[in-house]
Amino acid sequence: MNNNKYYIETYGCQMNVYDSELVASQLQKTGYTKTNDIETANLIFLNTCAIREKAQETVHNRLNSLEYLKKRNPNLLIGVLGCMAQNLKDDLLLNKPYVDIILGPDSYRRIPEIIQNRIGPLDNVVDTKLSKYEIYDDLFPSRNEGVNAWISIMRGCDKFCTFCIVPFTRGRERSRPVNSIVNEVKDAVKNGFVEITLLGQNVNSYTTPEGDFSDLLEEVAKVKGVKRIRYTSPHPRDFDDKLLDIMAKYDNICNYIHLPLQAGSNSVLKRMNRTYNREEFIDLVNKIRTVLPNCSISTDIIVGFPGESKEDFLETLEMMKINKFNFAYMFKYSSRPGTKAAEYDSQIDEDVKQKRLEELIKLQSEITLFQNKNKIGSIEYIMIEKESKKSSDFWSGRTDGNTWTIIEKNDEKIKDVIPVLITDARGVTLFGKSLTNKESIYEAN
Ligand code: SAH
Ligand code: SF4
Ligand code: F3S
Repeated sequence: MNNNKYYIETYGCQMNVYDSELVASQLQKTGYTKTNDIETANLIFLNTCAIREKAQETVHNRLNSLEYLKKRNPNLLIGVLGCMAQNLKDDLLLNKPYVDIILGPDSYRRIPEIIQNRIGPLDNVVDTKLSKYEIYDDLFPSRNEGVNAWISIMRGCDKFCTFCIVPFTRGRERSRPVNSIVNEVKDAVKNGFVEITLLGQNVNSYTTPEGDFSDLLEEVAKVKGVKRIRYTSPHPRDFDDKLLDIMAKYDNICNYIHLPLQAGSNSVLKRMNRTYNREEFIDLVNKIRTVLPNCSISTDIIVGFPGESKEDFLETLEMMKINKFNFAYMFKYSSRPGTKAAEYDSQIDEDVKQKRLEELIKLQSEITLFQNKNKIGSIEYIMIEKESKKSSDFWSGRTDGNTWTIIEKNDEKIKDVIPVLITDARGVTLFGKSLTNKESIYEAN
């Protein structure tokens, strides 16, 4: 038995969460055990994100704060993984010489070899080659606890939206075979996970000889023991009727779609290279709500894209009012060196971006509350996920449509899916009453 302990910190999207779980299983094979106490680790990995400048700054600051650990223990290994490693390796090598390992998202297979071959403090190991083929389909993750298992179904992105760094940090799009994914789902169920979230940058451009994304979704829906399936994100351009039909056909596929709009004006959408216009987007939202009347829809919006005029921004606000998203993730445009939009003229001033963001958030908060208030009096199915942070007398769980809901505890257990009468909506949260006992069902009627 050796005493090697690893510590991983994960930034960025769910794909990184999944990748960290893959890395964890690689480390465990090498004889390392996990620690949540960074001070006791002799291997520290930061799995990083490059999507906006702020994400990178956070990691830089974190790395600065780790230098003292290295001084105290020269045998400590510090590694930078993920999208920032891919993007900023030269900068890291120059400015953070105490970083031992820099690995891009396609190089994790090498981790055991790199660590085992280490004799004393090693020279920098840098591998940021991107692969056309790596899908890690023979590696299994060591999952974090919870009800939900993340499963990556594809890697990379070929869309090249002009603002986005992902096609450069993650490389070309490649899909993992259906069988390999279904096996991983079965394995997750065996290990007690009841919710599966399928991950990819554009899940609906998933393509394999055995089928497309809808076919995959159907195969996953048929796996025994899968209570809920979610996926993120589909691209509006690739959204077809077949996907909606499959969602309607299986109860365990959640009525929830994260559908990133990004901007409301056609001229901005065009310069973003999003390949759809506002009219097509509105039609798609209407179609979703016709086929799946209870479907929640969330979105991503960027304000302050280069050249975004006051009128363009007003069109974004208007699109929020038209589509009435249940929820939105909203960002200020952040220029990413190497992307097309970083070269565009007329970058927007920071204070204008900030004002637009605040205005957008204010509007969307009202819309989210409006949507949540509409649920008062209705019955939603909630999966009990954890004890509420505010009080141990309450559970916290999500509706099918992905809204966090607080309910008073009865004799439910974590992972139960129960009918709940929604009684209140505050902020982004719903409140409800469990209908699992007969008395309360009677009251509700
Ligand atoms: N593949 C997903 C998005 C992944 S990135 C999709 O196409 O929908 C998550 C979100 O980050 C994006 O939807 C976008 O809204 C935001 N984002 C990406 N690049 C950004 C940038 N340069 N500045 C600000 N936000 C950005
Ligand atoms: Fe980025 Fe666009 Fe690809 Fe999404 S689809 S990851 S926004 S390039
Ligand atoms: Fe960030 Fe990379 Fe994900 S840039 S958002 S961690 S794909």
